[in-house]
Amino acid sequence: MIDPADYALWNSGVPRPYLKALSRDDLLAEADGVRVRDAGGRWYLDGRSGLWNVTLGYGNERVKEAIKQQVDRLPFANSYGYGRPAQVTVECAQTLVRHLPDGINHVRFASNGAQAVEMALQFSRFLRLRAGQPERMAVFAMWDGFHGQGPGAGMVTGVPYLHHQTGPMLPEVHHAPGPFAPGASDGVSDLERHITDFGPERVTAVIVEPVVGEGGHILSPEYLGSLARFCRRHDIHLVFDEVVTGMGRVGDFTRAGQLPDATPDIITLGKGITSGYVPMSAVAIHDRLYEQLHDRTTGETALSVGSTNDGHAVAAAAAIAVMGVLSEDGVLENVRQRESDLVAALGKVQAQHPELTAVRCLGLFCGLEFGEPGGPAWTPGQVNKLRMALESRGVLSSSLRVVPNLMLMPPLVVTQDDVAEIAGALDGAIGDVKAGRMPESGFARAMG
Ligand SMILES: Cc1ncc(COP(=O)(O)O)c(C=O)c1O
Repeated sequence: MIDPADYALWNSGVPRPYLKALSRDDLLAEADGVRVRDAGGRWYLDGRSGLWNVTLGYGNERVKEAIKQQVDRLPFANSYGYGRPAQVTVECAQTLVRHLPDGINHVRFASNGAQAVEMALQFSRFLRLRAGQPERMAVFAMWDGFHGQGPGAGMVTGVPYLHHQTGPMLPEVHHAPGPFAPGASDGVSDLERHITDFGPERVTAVIVEPVVGEGGHILSPEYLGSLARFCRRHDIHLVFDEVVTGMGRVGDFTRAGQLPDATPDIITLGKGITSGYVPMSAVAIHDRLYEQLHDRTTGETALSVGSTNDGHAVAAAAAIAVMGVLSEDGVLENVRQRESDLVAALGKVQAQHPELTAVRCLGLFCGLEFGEPGGPAWTPGQVNKLRMALESRGVLSSSLRVVPNLMLMPPLVVTQDDVAEIAGALDGAIGDVKAGRMPESGFARAMG
């Protein structure tokens, strides 16, 4: 066991029993391809890609080499304010916009998803103030939507306990049910109806994840198309939070790119943008918003929001390499093929175990629901047990507590055999939970 007293890394969101149960052997020590090894010597197939970000797996030669060369050549240059950005950062932005939907041609970089979300919304509000509309400040998001944590993004995330744990946060943020929420009456119009009731002329932006991370609920093309038309009609900025769906996870560079009838005004990206090798995120905006930055009288275009590491040269080099791999090495094609394999394999698991009540996959973004056949859904504790049972069978996954789901988010480079291994382990793990067999580690017990 790690002595809690010497557990200097005070990481977020874990209660003390977890820290107490964590042994030194549980810490991760090494990785290779899609697998990670813990300090105790056990290898796991990383079915959650780190934290859904290590999209190309560990040890991608092209990304590693790009990082090394950039560290040697120029590790940092200042992209903020009147600094001089690195060549590689500008090249990264140019490369990125080539992979985004038509019209989305301008990029800012940050370091994490929450910053990107906050920057997108600040930018939206900034344009309203510039246009003399100070009454148009409201932001709408969805209950159970996830957009990061912290005083801005944590308020936009539709998870109430985050709103109250530290007192007041970003004002003028509102939530509406998504089409997947229990009791949501009308898939197409719930969010639109809430905004209509509130007063669209007071709303600056709507932010949604095209596939909702809490459970993998896929917002349909019809839903998003209708929302995009609604936003255009009311001059509301539509923000797609593609921190998870972007950069290959759904089989294309963005989900927006797969939906020609639902082009957003702003896209946020993060996670897989550097395959998790170094921190980076991005906010990309449409030409029509970018043009509004230009004041015809003063020529002023500044929105003063940024941070030291925005557009970090090493991250930019990594992102260029990731985009090269995604566009040239057949990874996107692999995502589509492995999606079919995974859906077929999970169908077989479902035939064995009716407790697997729902499977939702788009690309390699999969949400699984569990419950007693014809009875109640499994509790977060039960889903957590399943995650631990799966882990003891050698496959890492994510379990969600707010909406109990098991998420399978494997690296985009998994093979057919890897997918079969994930499904086989899941089959065994569900059997373990049903039979009350639990792994023997203190770690697993603390998680239960
Ligand atoms: C859709 C979405 N947006 C934003 C974020 C926040 O990203 P970060 O954790 O890098 O701040 C997350 C994180 O999981 C996310 O899933």
